Amino acid sequence: MSVYGNFPGARPRRLRTTPAMRRMVAETRLHPAELILPAFVREGISEPVPISAMPGVVQHTRNTLRKAAAEAVQAGVGGIMLFGVPEESKKDAIGSPGTDPNGILQLALQDVRSEVGDDLVVMSDLCLDEHTDHGHCGVLDAEGRVDNDATLERYAEMARVQADAGAHVVGPSGMMDGQVRVAREALDGIGRQDVSILAYTVKYSSAFYGPFREAVGSSLRGDRKTYQQDPANAREALRELALDLAEGADMVMVKPALPYLDIVRRIADEVDVPVAAYQISGEYAMVEAAAANGWLERDRAIMETLTGIRRAGAGLILTYWASEAARWLQRGE
Ligand code: PBG
Repeated sequence: MSVYGNFPGARPRRLRTTPAMRRMVAETRLHPAELILPAFVREGISEPVPISAMPGVVQHTRNTLRKAAAEAVQAGVGGIMLFGVPEESKKDAIGSPGTDPNGILQLALQDVRSEVGDDLVVMSDLCLDEHTDHGHCGVLDAEGRVDNDATLERYAEMARVQADAGAHVVGPSGMMDGQVRVAREALDGIGRQDVSILAYTVKYSSAFYGPFREAVGSSLRGDRKTYQQDPANAREALRELALDLAEGADMVMVKPALPYLDIVRRIADEVDVPVAAYQISGEYAMVEAAAANGWLERDRAIMETLTGIRRAGAGLILTYWASEAARWLQRGE
């Protein structure tokens, strides 16, 4: 079987004898700098609002978001990905808050940049779903279908306002064809060649986004199956990858993470750009719920999921546990 032949003295357990031995031979290590904290900021609230399906995660006020960003820096976290939740009354069919320089996401980007400067990579979700009254990731045509190319024009404007507001990285997440290209052109067009694009390259239409819909107060009825990928497909992921790289993606992402580790591995084997995986809201909720019932050892389970995602080939992991896990790592736990 093995390249060494059948050696009767082989005893793999010898390398598992002590904690120091296991630590020395570990093939996968996590580092705080590889973790990215997704964070929600909501307009018009004076106290953080807990998200019931994500125990421990809140919709931040502008103030508590600044604190969370500062804590992430302290913990050595690599980046923060911001999602804005505008006031319900401001949402409209074209997602105007997403391109308003005074929209909540833009204000939050300014806040966080003034708090952390360049000590944390500040990223923004480039998508319309948080901002539209119908909850879709794009604008709709007369028949109510998501209009790809009209949406791209909105995304271009979002890229510009997010860069103006201080984003180091924009993250187009709406799965529109051409979204990376228009973001790149829009940024270059205003002289912002320095702003990077983290492309949501492979984004599956997943039931595990459930808790996120509460987190952003989503107005969506129906589903996103005409733009997000079918969980049955793997080769399609490589096609999305080729397109995003050709369009100028600086980093690529697979999302969700745990049910798609085979895709993380395939992508990681293909590319020479950084690969991120997004451990999404439902993945978080599953572990927290089981742990709250005493069915799982919480902290060990968290580290095992992160290690698994890293081992599958993701160099960057977006996780709601980023700051907490980074503190454990800093303490050498
Ligand atoms: C779209 C977006 C979503 C998530 C991140 N960006 C929701 C969706 O596609 O339905 C989900 C993240 C999570 O579930 O943690 N703006």
